[in-house]
Amino acid sequence: MSASRSVAPGLPDTIGLEPPGASQEPVVVGPRQGYERWAASYDQYPNPLIAREERYLMPLLPDLTGKDVLDLACGTGRWLQKLLQRGARLGVGIDYSAAMLRVASRKAAIRAQVARADCLQLPFRASVFDFAICSFALSHIQGWKQVARELARVMKPDAVVVISDLHPEAYARGWRTGFRDSRGACQIEMLPPAAEEIILGFYSGGFECLTHVPLCLGDPEKQMFGATGKGHFFAEAVQVPAVLVCHFRRRCYEDRGS
Ligand SMILES: C[S@@+](CC[C@H](N)C(=O)[O-])C[C@H]1O[C@@H](n2cnc3c(N)ncnc32)[C@H](O)[C@@H]1O
Repeated sequence: MSASRSVAPGLPDTIGLEPPGASQEPVVVGPRQGYERWAASYDQYPNPLIAREERYLMPLLPDLTGKDVLDLACGTGRWLQKLLQRGARLGVGIDYSAAMLRVASRKAAIRAQVARADCLQLPFRASVFDFAICSFALSHIQGWKQVARELARVMKPDAVVVISDLHPEAYARGWRTGFRDSRGACQIEMLPPAAEEIILGFYSGGFECLTHVPLCLGDPEKQMFGATGKGHFFAEAVQVPAVLVCHFRRRCYEDRGS
């Protein structure tokens, strides 16, 4: 995301999150425009939010052998690759950004498994997936409760859905999703819903919340701040819940409405 004056020339200056009070005023764009532009460098620099989320979620991923899985707003296919490595029988990633999908489709393992679609209208039959993840996207989607309804439609009874995003408290303290490229600093519009809103929205859609966990950054993320000249921000950053991860279970027909 953003620039800091202390960045040494030649060091990557994009870490996926913009601390408050950054030195250069970023351009603020909508998610469609933002991800078309970020796609080229999205995979190239370490992102502490992504690192923290993966550090938490990887040990919790179930064995997916023989399962059908969905990576919603898959971007460059980060989770889709991992889900397939966990034994998934069929994996599909959807995203509305052609540029993000172009990067995904350069990866041999997922080349044929990504498609362009809007999370608000999923191009799948009912009750087909056993597991889904929607990572760092919900806060970009106006009317995200429709995503919960669409997910409820395409997931099998008892299927598990994982939602992760920037924690609303981090957002309230001024953290933003953004990046920096040769054209300058760019911030992407977002509005992370509160955990309670997400839980209620998914409950109305047909899901039971199993866990919702706030994650703070830790030592493994420290060097990412240092490498981008933002080391001075780290001590304060670790005090703030940075990522929210929610696990849901698709309620069965018998327990729906209860
Ligand atoms: C921060 S990226 C996350 C990508 C990937 N899930 C990851 O964690 O690396 C957010 C992604 O959400 C996608 N996105 C946002 N709103 C969407 C929508 N309504 N339908 C499909 N994709 C959407 C963007 O195009 C972008 O690729």
